[in-house]
Amino acid sequence: MSGRNDPCWCGSGKKWKKCHYPQSAPSDLKDSYFKQYKILIKTAQEIEGIRAACKLSSQILDEACRYAKVGITTNEIDALVARLHQEAGAVPACLHYGSPPFPKSVCTSLNEVVCHGIPNDRPLQEGDIMNIDVSSIYQGYYGDCSRMVILGQTTAQRRLVCDVSYQCLMHALAVCRPGALIKDIGDAIEDYATSKGCSVIYQFVGHGVGKAMHEPPQIPHNRNQLHIPMAPGMTFTIEPMINAGTTDIVIDPTNHWEVRTTDGLPSAQWEHSILITEEGYEILTPFTS
Ligand code: MF3
Ligand code: CO
Repeated sequence: MSGRNDPCWCGSGKKWKKCHYPQSAPSDLKDSYFKQYKILIKTAQEIEGIRAACKLSSQILDEACRYAKVGITTNEIDALVARLHQEAGAVPACLHYGSPPFPKSVCTSLNEVVCHGIPNDRPLQEGDIMNIDVSSIYQGYYGDCSRMVILGQTTAQRRLVCDVSYQCLMHALAVCRPGALIKDIGDAIEDYATSKGCSVIYQFVGHGVGKAMHEPPQIPHNRNQLHIPMAPGMTFTIEPMINAGTTDIVIDPTNHWEVRTTDGLPSAQWEHSILITEEGYEILTPFTS
């Protein structure tokens, strides 16, 4: 049988996939994904806009990670992220997002905080692990990414969740290509995390991104039954939150945002926004330094 990259049977000299490879016309695909799943398959022009927004988020996140040092407060990181957005003519997507409105320009989630940590005046301490999550609106398009920063020497358990959550993201990326299923992402992540004795947060998920901060589909990081085939032009985040202990969490009853592990054990997360391409995937939020 000939493969998608072999010469087309018609003798054109083009690859089969670029010639007589059977596929629904792009507009049919777009319509059917929207009808069936409410998923927006992006046009080339939209992809350019989303790529620019994602690149900005990633650059701002790079600067925020470099700036994070023992003694710096998360409010100072918030001020930096706010200023960098303003200088770029962009708006932090998390600022005033949701209900109650998220009060800051960045999420900073330390140690046992799983996600949606609110910057405050506590100076960073030796041994803290911190997720910094930057989301941006730039020229009408959205980018979203997050990374872990380790402050100096830390414990083996804190280091473990930082490493495992990064590897979970890498294993998830490795399955992404047209035709792979959304559920393959959760399989890859849960397999790896549990093999390292960690647990996977299922109460918060990745998401479509680009024309809005959170679009369909949801991207669960645990085992699931979402038999949705990935298709070129889909843009979504993968953002596994991995715990050293149980998956049980509690939302802060006072601010209604900060999510903590109930056992107080550490949690970590890495996030990229990606585009599904004809060949596989493109990371839209690459590290720039
Ligand atoms: N990457 C985070 C998410 O998708 C960004 C959250 S911003 C917040 O949930 F406003 F919701 F906190
Ligand atoms: Co996100």
